[in-house]
Amino acid sequence: MTTIGIHDLALATAHHVVDLSELATDRGVDPGKYLTGLGQTSMSFPAPDEDIVTMGATAARTLLHRTGTDQVRWLLFATESGVDQSKSAAVYAHRLLDLPSHVRAVEFKQACYAGTAALQAALGIVARNPHDQVLVITSDVARYALNSSGEPTQGAGAVAMLVSANPGLLEIEPISGVATRDVDDFWRPNDASTAVVDGRLSVAAYIDSLMLAWDDYAARGGKPVDQIDRFVYHQPFTRMAVKAHLALARHTGMPGDTAAMGAGLEYNRLLGNSYTASLYAGLAALLDSDITLAGQRIGLFSYGSGSVGEFFTGVVQPGYDRTWHHQATADVLAARSPLSVSAYEKLHAVALPSDTDADTPHVTAGPYRFAGIENQARRYESTV
Ligand code: HMG
Repeated sequence: MTTIGIHDLALATAHHVVDLSELATDRGVDPGKYLTGLGQTSMSFPAPDEDIVTMGATAARTLLHRTGTDQVRWLLFATESGVDQSKSAAVYAHRLLDLPSHVRAVEFKQACYAGTAALQAALGIVARNPHDQVLVITSDVARYALNSSGEPTQGAGAVAMLVSANPGLLEIEPISGVATRDVDDFWRPNDASTAVVDGRLSVAAYIDSLMLAWDDYAARGGKPVDQIDRFVYHQPFTRMAVKAHLALARHTGMPGDTAAMGAGLEYNRLLGNSYTASLYAGLAALLDSDITLAGQRIGLFSYGSGSVGEFFTGVVQPGYDRTWHHQATADVLAARSPLSVSAYEKLHAVALPSDTDADTPHVTAGPYRFAGIENQARRYESTV
């Protein structure tokens, strides 16, 4: 029987990193609130010549160097922080990656859930034609206002995944549970560069969505909870995933501890929120921390404010431990350049007007850069 799922994945992030102990001290907050209360140690922050396109293309470049592009027919780009109302980020990434013109390029949006929507669409595409492969890029910059309660939950990152038949990494199983409800917990109006959020409501809405999605998963014949070995969650901040897991434990009767989460929080704790990429950064952390997961079933919960939640499962494939690049993500995170709080605040305030020509300074060490605006169009260039 043909299996379908994630063949391989790779993560990229922004050039800079902000230390949350330093931010807490500057804001007059006990660092314990950010480090323990939210479960965050640092957050990635983009250089002026980085955005979702450069991060997403960088993650995809790493991935495609390993897998090749011969069977790729689709590029699905999921993001909450899109750079244009009409042209998809996928088309910009398509050119930077030098993909052939027969690869379709489309953008998906529904807050942080969009990455999972793109993954589900990719599974359907491959089911229709098992010779086709789909490149899914999830990429976001999470931005809240300076001095707001959301500020320590910012971050930036991208995960690229190749979806194929007979995947090397994770077979995605067909049953999933879905919860769609109209909730004003988090959104970003068209003319705003930072999100509007009702933080308390968003935490409650996330938990409610998980319970509804789980109940739908169970009603549709999903696996009993004791047949799910590990759990990975969307992580706007890592304590949110812990709260979610403990709530699911109470709801389902599974053990009320976090053992089944493994080390799935370790990268997001350093990365911050990467919206659409967050769940898949959690998956990368879990796979990196344990080479004995072959045959294990992983439960994944994706949540996007507004809101859509989905619970689904995947089975880690035999032999993944021989092909998986264990140190790659840790190296990407370790390579970031520290930013002082005052330098971060200056960068946070930078906003290029879309109707004036402007060049960006060359700061990123990545292979692609956002070079500026010309005739109202965004200009991207490759540095490799
Ligand atoms: P807040 O209200 O300032 O924080 O911001 P708090 O007062 O709730 O404190 C946070 C935790 O720190 C609490 O723990 C405190 O007790 C603890 P809890 O009671 O929750 O377990 N604490 C301490 N711990 C140790 N030492 C101390 C200390 N002081 C306090 N000294 C809030 C929190 C989440 C509201 C804020 O960060 C926020 O608005 N964030 C943005 C929204 C968000 O991330 N929501 C998550 C769910 S929605 C979602 O996931 C979707 C999203 O990714 C977007 C999308 O879908 O596109 C956001």
